[in-house]
Amino acid sequence: MNIGLTYNLLKDDLLPDEEPPSCRDEYDSPKTVLAIEKAIKAMGHSVYFIEADDKAYFALYRLKDTLDFVFNFAEGVPGESRESQIPMMLEMLKIPYTACGPLAAAVTLDKAVAKKVLIASGIPTPPYQVMNTHEDVLDPSLFFPLIVKPNGEGSSMGVDADSVCKDEVSLRRKVKQLIDKYKEPVLVEKFLSGREFTIPLIGNGNDLRVLPILEIAFDKFPKMEFYIDCYEAKSVWCEENDLEEAINVNDTLEPDLKRRLQKIAMDSFNALGLRDFGRIDMRMDEEGNIYVLEANPIPGLNPNPKHFSYFQVSASYSGMSYDQIIEAILKTAFKRYGLDETRSHKKIIKNEISAPLRRKV
Ligand SMILES: Nc1ncnc2c1ncn2[C@@H]1O[C@H](COP(=O)(O)OP(=O)(O)O)[C@@H](O)[C@H]1O
Ligand SMILES: [Mg+2]
Repeated sequence: MNIGLTYNLLKDDLLPDEEPPSCRDEYDSPKTVLAIEKAIKAMGHSVYFIEADDKAYFALYRLKDTLDFVFNFAEGVPGESRESQIPMMLEMLKIPYTACGPLAAAVTLDKAVAKKVLIASGIPTPPYQVMNTHEDVLDPSLFFPLIVKPNGEGSSMGVDADSVCKDEVSLRRKVKQLIDKYKEPVLVEKFLSGREFTIPLIGNGNDLRVLPILEIAFDKFPKMEFYIDCYEAKSVWCEENDLEEAINVNDTLEPDLKRRLQKIAMDSFNALGLRDFGRIDMRMDEEGNIYVLEANPIPGLNPNPKHFSYFQVSASYSGMSYDQIIEAILKTAFKRYGLDETRSHKKIIKNEISAPLRRKV
C-alpha cells in the first residue's frame, strides 16, 4: 500500500517568538517520524511524508489518487482545534486514516468539552470551572486546593509546581499568568491527591483492549507539596533519571482496581470517539475514587526508551517491539475500514510532493 505519514516536526522557525517554549513539546522529533516510517516500510508498504503545515492540503490533494491510507500523527498548525485539521482534510479527500476523526480530536483537545461528554456518559471526572478571565466569580462549590491548567494544551504544558493553589489570591494570579501566556481559557479543577494512572488502549469495538496500566511513581519523585506529573517532572527530571524510576508498570495492581481502571478507560475511549489507539489519564482522590483527567487520542510514540512516551513504554512492556506497535495500530485501522492490506488500491503517480524527510530537517 501507499501510506502517507502526517506529522509536525519540531523546528526552530515553526513557532512565532511569543509562543511559550513548552509548546514545542507537542511537536515530533525527526527520530520519531523516521522510526514510524521504518516500521511502516517493514510491513512492506511505501511511505509518503506530509508535513501538517499550512501547505498540507495541497500535498494531500495532489497525492489523493496515490495514497491508500494515512498514518496520522499530526498535531496541526497552532490553533483552537489544531488536531482536527488533518482528519478533516482526509475526510474531505476520502482518504482513510488512523486514529480519531475531526470531532473527537477537537473535543479531546478542549478539556472542558471532553469533561462534559464524560459527565453525560456517567464517567467520573473532577469537579471544575472554566475561567475566561482571572476576575471570573469562583464557583462556591469548589474547595481548595485547586489545580489550574490551560484548557487546550497537552504534555503537561502550563502545569508546574505552582499550578496547585491553596487560596484565591494565588489562584487568580496563576489564572492570569496562564491566560496571558496561552491566550485561551483556563480550567480550574478540584485537586486530587491520590494515585495517578495512565491507561493505553488499542483496538476498536469488541477488539478494544487495555495495554499494561502505568502508575506515576510519586514516591520516587523529588519532594513536592502537591505531587503532579508536571512539565518539570516529565522533562527535566527524566532527562537526568531513568524513566523506569518515574513510573511503575502495574502488573501487580489489585485485581478489583485493575478491572475498574480498565472499564473506565474503555468507556472513556468509546464515549469520546477515540479510534485505533489512545491513552486515558486518571487519578484518585484521597478516598480511592477514580476520576478521568483527560484523554489523548494520538499519544506520543517516541522510540527512545529514555524519553517519556507512556504508550510506547506500556506496549513494549506487553512484549511489542516498536515496529510491532506501529503495525498493530495500522492493522487495527485497516480492519476498521475493512481494507485488504496486501493490495494497493491506487495507482502510483509521480511522487513530487513527498520530499525525503532527511532533507527537511
Ligand atoms: N484535578 C487534578 N488533580 C490532581 N492532579 C492533576 C489534576 N489535573 C491534572 N493533574 C496533574 O497534572 C498532570 C497534567 O494534567 P492533564 O490533565 O493530564 O493534562 P496534559 O497531560 O494534557 O497536560 C496530570 O498528569 C496530573 O499529574
Ligand atoms: Mg495528561
